[in-house]
Amino acid sequence: MDKEIVRKIEKIVGKEGYSVKTADTYTYGFDASIFHRSPDMVIQPRTTEQVSEIMKIANSERIPVTPRGAGTGLCGSAVPIKGGIVLDMSRMNKIKDVSVGDMLCTVEAGCVYNDLNATLGKYGLQFPPAPGSAEAAQIGGMVALNASGMKAVKYGATRDFVMGMTFVKADGEIVRCGTGTLKDSSGYQLARLLVGSEGTLGVITEVTLKMAARPKAAASVLAAFRTPEDAGRFVTALVAKPLVPSACELMDRVSIEAVNIALNDPLPNSQALCMVEVDGEPETVDKELAIVEELAKEAGASDVQATKDPAISKKWAAARGSVMVALSSMKPGYVSVSLADDMILPVSKIPDAVTAYQRIAVKYGVVVATYGHAADGNLHTKMLLDPLSADEWVRGEKAVNEIFGVTLELGGSVTGEHGVGIAKAPNFQKERATALSTIREIKKAMDPNNILNPGKMEQWEGSILTNLRYPCREYM
Ligand code: LAC
Ligand code: ZN
Repeated sequence: MDKEIVRKIEKIVGKEGYSVKTADTYTYGFDASIFHRSPDMVIQPRTTEQVSEIMKIANSERIPVTPRGAGTGLCGSAVPIKGGIVLDMSRMNKIKDVSVGDMLCTVEAGCVYNDLNATLGKYGLQFPPAPGSAEAAQIGGMVALNASGMKAVKYGATRDFVMGMTFVKADGEIVRCGTGTLKDSSGYQLARLLVGSEGTLGVITEVTLKMAARPKAAASVLAAFRTPEDAGRFVTALVAKPLVPSACELMDRVSIEAVNIALNDPLPNSQALCMVEVDGEPETVDKELAIVEELAKEAGASDVQATKDPAISKKWAAARGSVMVALSSMKPGYVSVSLADDMILPVSKIPDAVTAYQRIAVKYGVVVATYGHAADGNLHTKMLLDPLSADEWVRGEKAVNEIFGVTLELGGSVTGEHGVGIAKAPNFQKERATALSTIREIKKAMDPNNILNPGKMEQWEGSILTNLRYPCREYM
């Protein structure tokens, strides 16, 4: 990085607010995806005004800027593929306001999801989208990806809670949008435009979120099925009932096996499992628990367990939450990679999708685990690959393209909660073909010099097997 630019940045954030050391820039080249590229500089701003000053310099010098939360994203959204600056927002982590009577809170972008909920919990409130990385994920990153997790089926995804925002444009202009109210019809909903923008339209520095009440009681059902189709029938029957589960997780045989190997058999061995949670007032929970149990039996479940003990519910949820890491210890020398990692489908198409994904896995000789948030149609597939084998990556990429192909044919989308980043960019472009020129016009209007997280999403070109973090020489 040019010395004069480093001097200017130091004037804005001080010596402690940036680094150009290789050890730091190398580290900031990763997120939780399979990709890596070191930036030239990492900056940790403390205020919106500092972000604005940094952006003015970056814009006039045409330096790429990639904003970053905790780096827990799984598809490369925070990997700075064109180098330049990574803006680490973690020092802007304040909860600025909790307005209980208004059901709104305002936080800085770097505020950690669990920290926010620990504070809201004191008022009996919550911000409920619950990403899998809740202990680390930051609100700015969640907004940038429209993140969510197990609870989204009942409570909604991040976008449903974003009422206002402060963001900094590529040229350094500070934009405040939205209101301190629970809704408004005051023209363009600019804050919502930034939801899912993955750092390509502006740097989110502050967000005003709607809050939800915490439920008084909760209970869970764990149902084992003889076939994925039976499990799928159960999910379809469940969503048709006048009750909304607070979670409904599906796991296929490979996912169950991986967890049982890694964690000493916490789950019943079966071809498919559904873990359903209901929450609310105690009497409602009792009634809904009985309905869910009954539905599971009607759908042909081979084993149904129900509990109101939070410790058991927590154990089941933790077993489900560990699928991704458990898969990595299944086969020595193999890792579980996130490629086609969070497709979303019409709920009725889940059995077709699970069956098709297995067929594709067999065709390409790869191990694929399918699991996810079945009641809102959001499925994860993870693939086991030897990351040093070029041949495995090539087969993996072909399998991924077919998985996305089937997903789109069935009326789904390439991502339900993790965002596009690099891993889904080519298939995102297929999915959004009729919107791409509009997306490009918006990007050009907001960031005419193309400095904000350039090269991603609608701009991606070619194979996704570039910038791999693994030492597979062909694709590094
Ligand atoms: C999960 C994360 C990876 O649901 O989205 O496990
Ligand atoms: Zn998920």
